[in-house]
Amino acid sequence: MCGIVGYIGNKQACEIILKGLKRLEYRGYDSAGVALLNGDLRVYKKQGKVLDLEESLNGKNIEGTIGMGHTRWATHGEPNDKNAHPHQSPTGDLSVIHNGIIENYATLKEGLLQRGHTFKSDTDTEVLIHLIEDIMKNANLSLQDAVRAALSQVVGAYAIVILSKNHPEHLIAARKGSPLVVGIGTDRGEFFLASDATPIVEYTNQVIYIKDGEIAIIENKELTIKTIDNVIQTPYIQELEMNLEQLEKGGYPHFMLKEIYEQPKSIFDSFRGRIDGRTGNINMRSVRDYQEKLSKVNRLILIGCGTSWHAGLVAEYLFEDLARVPVEVEYASEFRYRNPVIYPDDLIISISQSGETADTLAAMELAKQKGATVFGVCNVVGSSIPRLSHGGAYTHAGPEIGVASTKAFTAQVTVLTLYALAMAKQRETLSSSRIKQLVKEMEAIPKKVEQALKLNDKIYKIAELYKDAKNFLYLGRGYNFPVALEGALKLKEISYIHAEGYPAAEMKHGPIALIDEEMPVVVIATNNEHYEKLVSNIQEVKARKGKVIAIVTEGNTGLNELADHVIEVPETENCLSPIINTIPLQLLSYHIAVMRECNVDQPRNLAKSVTVE
Ligand code: G6P
Repeated sequence: MCGIVGYIGNKQACEIILKGLKRLEYRGYDSAGVALLNGDLRVYKKQGKVLDLEESLNGKNIEGTIGMGHTRWATHGEPNDKNAHPHQSPTGDLSVIHNGIIENYATLKEGLLQRGHTFKSDTDTEVLIHLIEDIMKNANLSLQDAVRAALSQVVGAYAIVILSKNHPEHLIAARKGSPLVVGIGTDRGEFFLASDATPIVEYTNQVIYIKDGEIAIIENKELTIKTIDNVIQTPYIQELEMNLEQLEKGGYPHFMLKEIYEQPKSIFDSFRGRIDGRTGNINMRSVRDYQEKLSKVNRLILIGCGTSWHAGLVAEYLFEDLARVPVEVEYASEFRYRNPVIYPDDLIISISQSGETADTLAAMELAKQKGATVFGVCNVVGSSIPRLSHGGAYTHAGPEIGVASTKAFTAQVTVLTLYALAMAKQRETLSSSRIKQLVKEMEAIPKKVEQALKLNDKIYKIAELYKDAKNFLYLGRGYNFPVALEGALKLKEISYIHAEGYPAAEMKHGPIALIDEEMPVVVIATNNEHYEKLVSNIQEVKARKGKVIAIVTEGNTGLNELADHVIEVPETENCLSPIINTIPLQLLSYHIAVMRECNVDQPRNLAKSVTVE
């Protein structure tokens, strides 16, 4: 989704802004632009990558110590130069960048058209900057007051930054529903603005997360935060946990591969300090804090989008199997509009890597309004979802830059497993010796993931054989049905091959019609109570000449004759097997996408952090 960078200080702004925009590239975008203030206000923008913008700046005047930049992910109006941000007011005195959607832009535009405004772009954003200038002129208001007045007319979501030619030394930003962070520079009066902390981290670790309905005004080297109703707020300065090294590729050709290989560590980090295999102890702060409440919980509702929703599906098996709590798993986007039945003794767990997904945030707000307790399982520290939650746990996977989620997924499943075990303990649905056994096995998972990563060469060879397939089918049962969904999602996201994940037994009710000698079928057939049934499903695929890639437990030679390829993964408990079985599927989609020369880290049309609904 759109990325925002702003700078005000003593250094040249353009270089800092372009570097920042490159750090935000992972969010997904189709055009980029900058505005620089140095006596006059200059705007440069271009469809394509930040590199295209950078090249187009050759020979142009890019002087200025105040500026802002934007990467646009098209919503209103196709991706082209004129729709790229920044947008300007009719006089050219004001300029704005925006992440979000102004939902009532058509009504606002109608009013402006009647007052003689003409527009250069098809965007909702241009309407906003026209409106601000219109209010300044007609109501004779200061820039700040006009911004507040305009925003009070806006329905929708926004993070904006505004520059004004007539207000040098001045930068105004505001947020509602879309993320915005202010970095406090080391020089007095130096401030950074960004959609997330990644462009800021190399300059400062002191940040302020702007809250919904707040406006940040930087003038005369001072930062003031106000509400939209002009009430001054005391900012809360937070220290960033991430470092620069985590944001670089570290020798890997792609962030996605780096992140796949980081999993032994990220999984360890997500349970570090929370479990003890010697005692079987599970130490989750939110479980302690909400002990009384949790003991009365009658139902869990897990909400998320994309890969996070898949983590929720794995957790459905975990919570029901281990803690015997009824579970519903919901797409946040459906839940928020369905008028769902929510009881005060429901526990909602909101799962999100970014902590900024608009639908997930809205679903949480709804659940809170209806009186439920809401927990967040989130990766990005300080993001909106943990701030909106009553309690929860960070996944501590470190920054995930590849758009296709990998290490965040396995960390989410790990943390959700800890919750399921903690609730099993509290509800006495498992014996302490069984809990201890599972905790011990969880501690062994990072080593087993490391072993699974050694399958890379074998998987590369399989990828070579199937890289030109038109379709892929992924089958799994029980705990590994969501793994099949996640495997299919990974492949389609980054290689653009159509792929479907299916519960293996459901194959007969539809997908079997697609099977012929051209169809690769990935079957997750590790040891569990469904194994024999999965073998029958493989027989059904082979009888129709499909190509079978079977994921089996190490030492199982039973499928060597039947399957076309057998990938042996380390043995573990069935309830922990999704974490391990996901690894070969991640590698398979990665290699296929690279072989098809796809942009693995920034797949077309996709965004890392979906901040609009
Ligand atoms: C986007 C990303 C996915 C992610 C989903 C949910 O579609 O490309 O990788 O799973 O959003 O995002 P969240 O940050 O809430 O986990």
